[in-house]
Amino acid sequence: MNAIILLGAPGSGKGTQAMRLAESLGLPHISTGVILRQAVADGTELGKVARDIMAAGRLVSDEIVLGIVDERIAAPDCGRGFILDGYPRNQAQARALAGVLSKRGATEWIANIDVPPEELTARVRGRRGTDGRQDDSEEAFCRRLEVYESESLPLLDYYGNRAVNISGLGSRDDVFGRLCAALPFAAARLVTPKLVAQ
Ligand code: AP5
Ligand code: MG
Repeated sequence: MNAIILLGAPGSGKGTQAMRLAESLGLPHISTGVILRQAVADGTELGKVARDIMAAGRLVSDEIVLGIVDERIAAPDCGRGFILDGYPRNQAQARALAGVLSKRGATEWIANIDVPPEELTARVRGRRGTDGRQDDSEEAFCRRLEVYESESLPLLDYYGNRAVNISGLGSRDDVFGRLCAALPFAAARLVTPKLVAQ
């Protein structure tokens, strides 16, 4: 079982690239942000707890998000592996994930998508009004960046050389190419069908 973990700041392209990897590799894309936004939209108990925290750009509790991930990766479609987008976001979550993955005998592939703050801001400003995400407001986005720097950035030290760093600048195709080259598992799976198609 392969667990592909995408790290990166808000707006770095985790969701964009996770979707592409999921399609190419035939693995489920698990975004804690998407699951939480759906819960908010559905007005579930989880959504009621998460709504204001997300709108403010803060992190939902570790206990809640680990519960979401643990349950989701136990589903039958995750048997071959999955792509995690937005989890883990701090060291407590990373340690909890390590426990869950080792229990399942999963191999971790970790990639960090590196994008400078001014480009992150430009991307998120660009989608304001179209995506309707409350946490894209100037205030909430600034808070998300602060939370990223204090809570999530230290994960790069935590993972050390187990995480590959790739530049998230350039076109979506450029970034995808770098990501696939950096993940040997993905590269092997992606190159073969392309050669067959030619
Ligand atoms: P989440 O939904 O994970 O949001 P995020 O990490 O803050 O970031 P985004 O989803 O905005 O960015 P992204 O990196 O996915 O980039 P995207 O592909 O969209 O989390 C939201 C909230 O949920 C959190 O703040 C928290 O409250 C809660 N939450 C979630 N997980 C949690 C956890 N583990 N623990 C606690 N709380 C949690 O791209 C951004 C934009 O740029 C798009 O418009 C895209 O089209 C564009 N773009 C992408 N690639 C390129 C490119 N190469 N060039 C130009 N534009 C590009
Ligand atoms: Mg996202």
